[in-house]
Amino acid sequence: MSDSVVYLNGEFLPRSEARLSVDDRGFFFGDGVYEVTRAVDGKLFESGRHMTRLARGLRELRLEPTQSLDDIEALSLELLGHNDITSGEGTVYLQITRGAAPRTHHFPPAGTPCTVFLSAQRFSVPHDKRATGVAVITYPDIRWSRCDIKTVNLLAAVMAKQQAVDHGVFEALFVRESAVTEGSHTNVFGVIDGELRTYPASNLILGGVTRDVVLELARALGLPVSETPFHIHHVKDLQECFLTGTTTDVMPVVQFDGAPVGSGKPGKMTMVLYEALAARLYGAVTAASR
Ligand code: PDD
Repeated sequence: MSDSVVYLNGEFLPRSEARLSVDDRGFFFGDGVYEVTRAVDGKLFESGRHMTRLARGLRELRLEPTQSLDDIEALSLELLGHNDITSGEGTVYLQITRGAAPRTHHFPPAGTPCTVFLSAQRFSVPHDKRATGVAVITYPDIRWSRCDIKTVNLLAAVMAKQQAVDHGVFEALFVRESAVTEGSHTNVFGVIDGELRTYPASNLILGGVTRDVVLELARALGLPVSETPFHIHHVKDLQECFLTGTTTDVMPVVQFDGAPVGSGKPGKMTMVLYEALAARLYGAVTAASR
């Protein structure tokens, strides 16, 4: 990784000089939360939604960083500046852990400062994959029952995504009691009988920012939408399928566990929703000039 500037516990410094304690609870327990936010032309996309989700995760896990949400937003923008990512595409990664303390399962002594880390990187939009669509496989949803918290405990996602890589496909979709819940790092939508479906917001999926925006856009476009899961036995009936996520936007799925989805090409509703999302991401910039 090139020597970008990162933020760690109050300081901006070169990535190669950033040091964490081996006693960090992120290292021992995965005891922390994270966010990945898109930056377009130096502005954070849907920052409010990311900050709301972050605040909820912090509250649920009783993490209390000294930095406020406003501070985190301001630091993210400053970091984009330090890395010269004030035009074009980037992402900001934020991680907050319960800090460094001797290893005990219970919380460390009161006053142990949280570890707060931010990095910013350039992002290359996967337009080529969107043009053809991608393949997915399924993987058992072996995760815990608080998938709504964006914790850095990502072992099931790591195992699932590696299975996808081993099979030469883009994403692995988790299946719980025959319902397709979400991907290793994406949410998933299907179109059946002309209706757009996705797993309901609950403790069993991460409430994706992109998922929320896409649902809002679909409703504004008057498309029939239902927060109802589709199941493995519905896959043969899928007219369209797509993934959503901060680093994925709207990504058509054209192959599901080896079988073609619909016509085997990116679906119409999928591309309408991608264009609507792109209009939000890029404002007045037209698809043709991107
Ligand atoms: N992942 N579901 C899971 C399990 C995720 O990890 C993510 C995001 C999403 C999509 O959420 P959003 O639209 O807010 O990005 C859904 C990030 C990008 C990651 O882990 O890199």
